[in-house]
Amino acid sequence: MLRIAYVNGRYIEHRRAAVHVEDRGYQFADGVYEVIHLFRGRLIDEAAHLDRLDRSLGELDIAWPVSRPVLALAIRELVRRNRYATGLVYIQVTRGVAPRDHKFPGDTRAALVMTVRPIPEFPTEMREEGVKVITIDDLRWARCDIKSVALLPNVLGKQAAAAAEAYEAWMCDADGFVTEGTSSNAWIVTLYGTLVTRPTGPDILRGITRQAIIRIAGDMGLAVEERKFSREEALEAREAFLSNSSHFVTPVTSIDDTVIGNGKPGSLSAALHDRYAEFMESAPHALSRG
Ligand code: PDD
Repeated sequence: MLRIAYVNGRYIEHRRAAVHVEDRGYQFADGVYEVIHLFRGRLIDEAAHLDRLDRSLGELDIAWPVSRPVLALAIRELVRRNRYATGLVYIQVTRGVAPRDHKFPGDTRAALVMTVRPIPEFPTEMREEGVKVITIDDLRWARCDIKSVALLPNVLGKQAAAAAEAYEAWMCDADGFVTEGTSSNAWIVTLYGTLVTRPTGPDILRGITRQAIIRIAGDMGLAVEERKFSREEALEAREAFLSNSSHFVTPVTSIDDTVIGNGKPGSLSAALHDRYAEFMESAPHALSRG
């Protein structure tokens, strides 16, 4: 099946899709992105992702490349052309193409690129076995709330995790508190069954899945505390998990080789995952009319 990408208004065979060498995303990482889960034809939390895109663009003073309704239509057209039921929609907006010069170019139009990649519905192994996490120093800048394509510390962190045969690296601030994972938000469950995750602010990304979990946990009558937690507290936790749009709730069963809980995915993580799956099922179909 032909895989199709979207590049500045055109639907192009994925392997031929390309941007200009002087795209500012390529030269300066001067751009932002979103990843939306396509689950059985449904775009999960699309509005929240587009709201965050709007905020990221606003913080960097990048104009929308097309209007929001046009973007929503283009996403649907891309989904339709690719014919994947389940996958990840990647949306990237950069400040555009201009001769290399650090300051903003005067009259450049923002560039928009989108892809869709198929993924398995629920990676059962990750959910049934849980994943390993390592901790590393957080080397990032002071505006991690902007979903910028400048991901070098995240890339290095994820590679350090892979080298340690772990799935994710949790980054720690100078005081030893966990900020977040390189591509996910970090959570623990205390011995009393309270969910704990770092409050939003400039030091973490305001995860869309994180917000949904807070809402779902509230519906389930679970206590949620938005506060910092240290690496040491995480090692003692009853459960730990990570959240993102690619894998929703992923149980963590060891941190820096310390076993979390009984070494099996925790029951609250599993319950949250199931409730999140129900929430996804209830989303409208992307290609349905009206
Ligand atoms: N990453 N924190 C970071 C640093 C992230 O990169 C992500 C998502 C999250 C979770 O956000 P959300 O729940 O909105 O997906 C938290 C995406 C999936 C990525 O870079 O591929």
